[in-house]
Amino acid sequence: MNSNIVKERRIKDHPILGPLPNVPGVIITVDSKKIIGRRGEPILAALIASGFDSTRTTEKLTAPRGLFCGIGVCTDCLVTVDGMPNVRSCVTPVEEGLAIQTQSGRGKWVHEAKE
Ligand code: FES
Repeated sequence: MNSNIVKERRIKDHPILGPLPNVPGVIITVDSKKIIGRRGEPILAALIASGFDSTRTTEKLTAPRGLFCGIGVCTDCLVTVDGMPNVRSCVTPVEEGLAIQTQSGRGKWVHEAKE
């Protein structure tokens, strides 16, 4: 496996929910690092499992933000996905090959060619 991939941290066997279902892992890129997500899980879950503590910084104070409501209401978890800024990572599913960037302030459109 590619040594450039960040090792994931996940609960493999939850005491109430049971074992983690067998879902194919997919590689996504976050700030030029390759991480493993589980197809269909929220992007935010993949980020947290890979050690990211924040998804963006605020515009004026550059304070870190990340998981807060977890249900798409607060907008604390915004990221840029495939060039589109202000995507709520807690309600956006992981797909193979996504290019995600943590965001500063309001974010801006990023136009990059996909590999
Ligand atoms: S954590 Fe609140 S919208 Fe994502």
